[in-house]
Amino acid sequence: MTLQEIAKKFRPPAFPGSYFLSFEGIEGAGKSTQIIKVRDYLEEKGFRVLVLREPGGTSFGEKLRQAILNSQSPIHPVAELHLFASSRAQLLHEVTLKELGVPNTVIIYDRYIDSTLAYQGSARKLGFEAVLQSHSSFPLTLVPHITFYLKIPTDLSHDRQKMRNAPKDYFEKQGNDFYTALVEGYEKASELFPERIIQVNGHQEVEHVFQEIKEHVDSLILENSQRPEN
Ligand code: TYD
Repeated sequence: MTLQEIAKKFRPPAFPGSYFLSFEGIEGAGKSTQIIKVRDYLEEKGFRVLVLREPGGTSFGEKLRQAILNSQSPIHPVAELHLFASSRAQLLHEVTLKELGVPNTVIIYDRYIDSTLAYQGSARKLGFEAVLQSHSSFPLTLVPHITFYLKIPTDLSHDRQKMRNAPKDYFEKQGNDFYTALVEGYEKASELFPERIIQVNGHQEVEHVFQEIKEHVDSLILENSQRPEN
């Protein structure tokens, strides 16, 4: 099977009136800022919005998060891939699928499968096929309606990380080649899932980034669903 054929098996969940979004990008791309803006915007429109973080979000997932991000010794890429997939499956089962069943809910993921494609598939060199195969059973076959990939150059990522001045976690300690491979991974994922992944230039004013995102959110959610009563 070609990658394109495998990719077609990944579909958004079908819960009338509820939506699944995700945000992607390298460190410093501005995901957190935009997620808060989208959440506030949708809540004003009367939606119930939940923001979920990967890895984590369940007690099992938080343990896996600590195991990976605080690891003092290198983790094998295959182990890493399965840790992220485990955390994801549990979060989908425990939270996402139940919450999407409540009408007018929007679930926003801060990182989802495209992080695994970029980090484990590309930067850790496992390849896209290995990542997609590891997600071949339900509920891991679920993908968002829209994924916003906030695209920034790698040097801007380094500058923004320096400004934050926070201690570096496991992945933030990686060198330039790792970041270049991440960007290549995100580009390749965008080609593989052209309808789902929307590239947004993250190297512009916060408000401009948000306006671009808002247009897509409006056409997906506000025009295609019954508007909840305010
Ligand atoms: P986090 O502190 O949430 O990073 P960020 O603020 O950049 O989102 O840590 C998550 C880290 O885990 C991040 O460096 C990306 C990495 N990651 C993977 O390698 N694979 C994955 O599937 C996911 C979801 C995250």
